[in-house]
Amino acid sequence: MSLKVNGERREVNIRTSETLLNVLRNQLGLTGAKPGCLNGDCGACTVHVDGWPMKSCLMLGVEGVDKEITTIEGLENTPIQQAFIEQFAFQCGYCTPGFIMNCQSLIEQHPDASDEMIQEWLESNICRCTGYQEIEQAIKSVLVRKQNSE
Ligand code: FES
Ligand code: FES
Repeated sequence: MSLKVNGERREVNIRTSETLLNVLRNQLGLTGAKPGCLNGDCGACTVHVDGWPMKSCLMLGVEGVDKEITTIEGLENTPIQQAFIEQFAFQCGYCTPGFIMNCQSLIEQHPDASDEMIQEWLESNICRCTGYQEIEQAIKSVLVRKQNSE
């Protein structure tokens, strides 16, 4: 069996009950997606599946076959990563890969997102140590720069 992850086809041996999060971390060594609540609440495990943010703790590995999967390791030098640094949008960083995957998807899918949409979109992720305002600022700074460059 194989999965397409970060543009590369990788051979994996997936047990039927194994989550995508486990496959990514334990078989492919992609440890950027983090185990948090493991029940869909925190978003620390967020990856992209066919461009949409998905909680990889809620998805079976076998469901990833024939899909395009992107993890934080596959996002290289995206403006949102730099914006998180500029806006001090993290502290311990445990939630950060999940937030960045979610934010990147918002930027791609809704480049004209309103404040309400940004807030709603961020509700799927939980950070226990920093303010959400900085994360919102990071998204907005990327959206503004994107709109100005078009
Ligand atoms: S670990 Fe997947 S949502 Fe919390
Ligand atoms: S920065 Fe620590 S959990 Fe979000």
